[in-house]
Amino acid sequence: MQAKVTVHAGYLISEIDPRLYGSFIEHLGRAIYTGVYEPGHPTADASGMRGDVVALARALNVPIVRYPGGNFVSAYNWEDGVGPKERRPSRLDLAWHTRETNEVGIHEFADWCGAIGAEVMYAVNLGSRGLNEARNFLEYANHPRGSYWSDLRIKNGRVEPFNIKLWCLGNEMDGPWQIGHKSADDYGRLACETAKALRAFDKSLELVVCGSSNAKMPTYPQWEATVLDHTYDVVDYISLHMYFNNRAEDVARYLAANIELDRYIQSIAGVIEFIKAKKHSHKNVYISFDEWNVWYHSEEQDKKTLNGNNGWPSSPPLLEESYNFEDALQVGLILNTFIRRSNVVKIACLAQLVNVIAPIMTVPGGPAWRQTIYYPFFFASRFGRGQALDLRVDSPSYAAGEIGEASCLDVAAVHDAASGGVTLFVVNRSSEPIATTFSLEGFGALSLADHQTLVHPDLKAVNSAEAPDNVAPKAGAGAQIRGDALSATFAAYSYHVIRLETANAVRRPK
Ligand code: AHR
Repeated sequence: MQAKVTVHAGYLISEIDPRLYGSFIEHLGRAIYTGVYEPGHPTADASGMRGDVVALARALNVPIVRYPGGNFVSAYNWEDGVGPKERRPSRLDLAWHTRETNEVGIHEFADWCGAIGAEVMYAVNLGSRGLNEARNFLEYANHPRGSYWSDLRIKNGRVEPFNIKLWCLGNEMDGPWQIGHKSADDYGRLACETAKALRAFDKSLELVVCGSSNAKMPTYPQWEATVLDHTYDVVDYISLHMYFNNRAEDVARYLAANIELDRYIQSIAGVIEFIKAKKHSHKNVYISFDEWNVWYHSEEQDKKTLNGNNGWPSSPPLLEESYNFEDALQVGLILNTFIRRSNVVKIACLAQLVNVIAPIMTVPGGPAWRQTIYYPFFFASRFGRGQALDLRVDSPSYAAGEIGEASCLDVAAVHDAASGGVTLFVVNRSSEPIATTFSLEGFGALSLADHQTLVHPDLKAVNSAEAPDNVAPKAGAGAQIRGDALSATFAAYSYHVIRLETANAVRRPK
């Protein structure tokens, strides 16, 4: 098969917000305990944070980490996680039916974010709690000193405010599974009043209101319209979530699922425009896609874990997906979609980061290792910054069930205007190799800086603590530039990052 792609320096989609490469950590399973936090682990620092996990997370270059949930946040009391550890209460977590020891709270988590080079994106509890607790926490976290809550923070050991800028107004409030689930009207009113209170403290905060938990929700997309009708003037982003699965064992259909993601984003962009027009507003609201990933492999195991115990275990293994090679292709496809929609999607969070539906796994007392999906996220986060380019892709396609036609080749391109370099992210989602020519227009002379690829003969191949490099990137072969044309052949079911640089470019580390 053959394909042709036109890449033009003047065809811009948008400047990419670096927060497109955010992530998420919830008090769930082993994400915190024996994930990021394991006192006594050989690599742990004085506060019990695992150094091996910090190193792997830091390499992902994640600018924000959403915290503390997720479903967990909707019954969480933030006060439980501050102050002397020995006085922190153990609580029953109603979302995941486990016991939360509160050894880690905002102080420890913010320090951990600092260690990986990220900022906290904080979700307030609008399920079991409301405006008052949210504004108290804001005062605790961000006020310098001289008030009840800020002085308590100082007494608890943190003089400088946390300065959290990005706030989620609850989590998945459209979901009947959510503690304190609400109707769109009830939630919209509460979110609006909470947003006004938070803004009364600091107008510059960025606020995210809850959209749909997925595009199959019965309330979708009226939920977004109603919630934005209440909140348009006081929020900056509306959140969307989506999880992918190949339960049907239909690879062709599975690898076309980012087309559904694309339609979901376009539909909500339309709802945002509708409410903007209805309100005769000049302000923009963008999408925060603050939970996305593949999630289905661990379902049976999770049912056993949750049904099999009569108690309330503390940090049992939950949502411990074992990601295979086709999932890595899927993550590459999802990231390509976000790059192409970076004019409306400004924030996205890979859910999650450690142990729970995660690219990084840990063995208690043992090593930390990378899942297959670590790599496409690593490459996109590192090299997918700059301006997203609008491409013309002329590729063979195939019929992907009810999704319709899927182009065999999925491509995103990013231009780093500062260096002049161009990065191409390519997924061949078909079962045949594709010989591809890229016409590179308006960039001046470019040369090939690097070609990395993820390929594996077995779509179901996984990494594990015992074989952590079974699926890992390798140098690609055969890509060539002649004048303004780049040619490369992409193997069946493969992921590629091709970096092009201008003649005078200063090389960045790989
Ligand atoms: O990320 C796992 C869960 O998925 C989160 O707690 C919830 O928000 C979503 O349903």
